[in-house]
Amino acid sequence: MMASCSNPFQGQGSLHFKVKDFKQDPLVEEERLRALRLEKELAWKTIVVEAVDSFSEIESTVQKKCFACHDAKTKTPIYGRVFTRVNPIYHHQQDGIKALDFSQKFPLIAKGNPSQIALLKAIRNEVLDRTMPIKAYTSVYRKRKINQTDEEKILAWTDPLIEKLEEFEKRFDVSQLDVNSQMTKVFEQKCFRCHANGNDRGNFGEMQDVKKLVKGKFVNMQNPLDSAIYKLSVSKKMPPNPRDALEDQELLLLGEWLERLSLENRNN
Ligand code: HEC
Ligand code: HEC
Repeated sequence: MMASCSNPFQGQGSLHFKVKDFKQDPLVEEERLRALRLEKELAWKTIVVEAVDSFSEIESTVQKKCFACHDAKTKTPIYGRVFTRVNPIYHHQQDGIKALDFSQKFPLIAKGNPSQIALLKAIRNEVLDRTMPIKAYTSVYRKRKINQTDEEKILAWTDPLIEKLEEFEKRFDVSQLDVNSQMTKVFEQKCFRCHANGNDRGNFGEMQDVKKLVKGKFVNMQNPLDSAIYKLSVSKKMPPNPRDALEDQELLLLGEWLERLSLENRNN
């Protein structure tokens, strides 16, 4: 058998090939990316369904011990009624909901959109350290303290979920919530050199200005995946040097970013 590292161009008569030969068939590449996007969507949906499903195991515990301050649907905090007059800890409910809101079970909601992994790890730590529910609350409602059984139940929800999310992020190299800043980084690395901050190769510049970019002719908000910036990147025509071509994860990110922008545009 031939060694697998043999020169693939052997016997082809010439070692000279044009850079152009590296460019991929646009249709094949678009189809491959489409399949990858579907795969990612499915993987995310599976995680969400499983997370919501397994939440039922901890719902009664969390309802008793956390919802007073961490469920936007809990209108009157149980302890709020007791402290109606001076109510020194009423504001804890407001702050609590901002920090973490269980009302849709999963994905968890929180102000500032921290990653789901960060939130789950925070829950884990608060529970392990017994720092939640806050003392001001449990000193009045002793039965609402976390006990060993609660801890085991809650960790049985958080830990496998953290693992699945870490696998997901590793596989697709993208956190669900930070699409904008990740996209900026990719553009900075792969496009700005020629298309931003005064560079306008091919008459295409100012990519750093998203508002302008979106209004320009290389982005199609009606049909985001039809945008030139997407199609040229998928078919590896841009950036011109194949060494700088966008990785699959970066292409997924670009597709997602464009679709989100398009949705936002439609909603405005
Ligand atoms: C009496 C109100 C109250 C209850 C009950 C309560 N919390 Fe909190 N929680 C807060 C407040 C207020 C904050 C935001 C300020 C802070 O971090 O101390 C918070 C923040 C958090 C955070 C975010 C911490 C971070 O690092 O961002 C987590 C996670 C959390 N709580 C988990 C829980 C869990 C799990 C329970 C139930 C076992 C629970 N809390 C019960 C009031 C409460
Ligand atoms: C090394 C410089 C360089 C980099 C990096 C680069 N481009 Fe280009 N780009 C060019 C040049 C040169 C042209 C004009 C090519 C032509 O007209 O054939 C061009 C043209 C374009 C056009 C206009 C195509 C048209 O039909 O007029 C788009 C859109 C584009 N690039 C997108 C991108 C995107 C998106 C990236 C990053 C993922 C990128 N480019 C990275 C050099 C670059």
